[in-house]
Amino acid sequence: MKNDLDRRLAGELEQFRNDGVYKRLNYLDSPQGPRVRMEGRGDVIILSSNNYLGLSDDPAVVAAGKAALDRFGAGTASVRFICGTFTVHRALEQACARLVGTEASLSFVSCWNANEATPGTLLGENDIVISDQLNHASIIDGIRLAKAITRCQTAVYRHADLADLEEKLIASKDRRTRMVITDGIFSMEGAIAKLPDLVALCRKHHAVLVVDDSHATGVLGATGRGTAEHFGMLGEVDIITSTLGKALGGAAGGFVAASAEVCDYLTQRARPQLFSNALPPTVAASALASIEVLEASPDRVARLRENARYFRDQLISIGFKPLAGETPIIPVILGETAAAIRMSEMLLDEGVFVTGFGFPVVPQGQARVRCQISSAHTRQDLDQALAAFRKVGTRLSLI
Ligand SMILES: Cc1ncc(COP(=O)(O)O)c(C=O)c1O
Repeated sequence: MKNDLDRRLAGELEQFRNDGVYKRLNYLDSPQGPRVRMEGRGDVIILSSNNYLGLSDDPAVVAAGKAALDRFGAGTASVRFICGTFTVHRALEQACARLVGTEASLSFVSCWNANEATPGTLLGENDIVISDQLNHASIIDGIRLAKAITRCQTAVYRHADLADLEEKLIASKDRRTRMVITDGIFSMEGAIAKLPDLVALCRKHHAVLVVDDSHATGVLGATGRGTAEHFGMLGEVDIITSTLGKALGGAAGGFVAASAEVCDYLTQRARPQLFSNALPPTVAASALASIEVLEASPDRVARLRENARYFRDQLISIGFKPLAGETPIIPVILGETAAAIRMSEMLLDEGVFVTGFGFPVVPQGQARVRCQISSAHTRQDLDQALAAFRKVGTRLSLI
């Protein structure tokens, strides 16, 4: 029996379809990799995954998950502080801290949860959190929640605008704690945060800097240790949040890496820790193995960088104008949402999977297709994808 809510939603869904913004899920029947088996499509080149280092089907990563299933069973059946903490959680947290260059870390079931926990647990009503305008949705929602829970003040600075940030820091000088939050790599732009300036500004104004390195962990820096390594500033960011669901094996999970005090306080008080189960041990073990593979073979990071540079240069040489940048996220702006979705569908018809993003994920009128490159792509994968871009771009008169 359909109720009034079902009928209202059906009408709105119909409108999404009419507007060309309805998202269809594609089902994969193989591990995530540079090429996948997509139901109804056969073999497809993936240019839309966060599997930056090709670790999600790495034999060592898969074997670690299987071994943990045998050793620890399926799950924790409890929250951390009761009896849901396994030794593999401690090993993972030590590895995360070692990787990103902090004293300690604490894992969560997602980086969404880590971002929700950070301002909402560490701030109070005399504090303020100041956020970059283009920060990820999990940061935005984490701040909304923090405001509701703690009554802290909130402010937003124009994207990457240090002068605007400084104005907000000066205006809030009487607050007890001022927390500034930025993405390390902005996921829809592929742009890198201006970390040296942000660190300097936060030091000058005695503010705490939080960097969400979800797209930078495993990606930036000579050995994949993130935005801080990219700028030669390891150990200089107060709090780093990141995901285990992208470069580090891609299963799920996230972490906060910071001082021992911050991590201990989150263990004591963060609501997603206190009222929700820990990461499944299989996932923790796979993520731990991913970090160990990365540490043993930083050449994957060099390969990723080389692949990204090649794809970007070739895309430009065939006439596209991707947003400028140096990361493996390469967006091509198309304008309207329907145009981005149409281009991604035409590319899929050519055997290349690239997602189109529109409003509200990106601002109105700035819909785009976003290419993401992996170290696992071969030159043949990239050339085949470029040939599809040339064909579709010509058909749509984009090049
Ligand atoms: C910048 C950023 N932060 C946080 C997240 C959420 O990560 P998770 O999938 O671990 O919840 C994402 C995922 O898209 C992201 O891009």
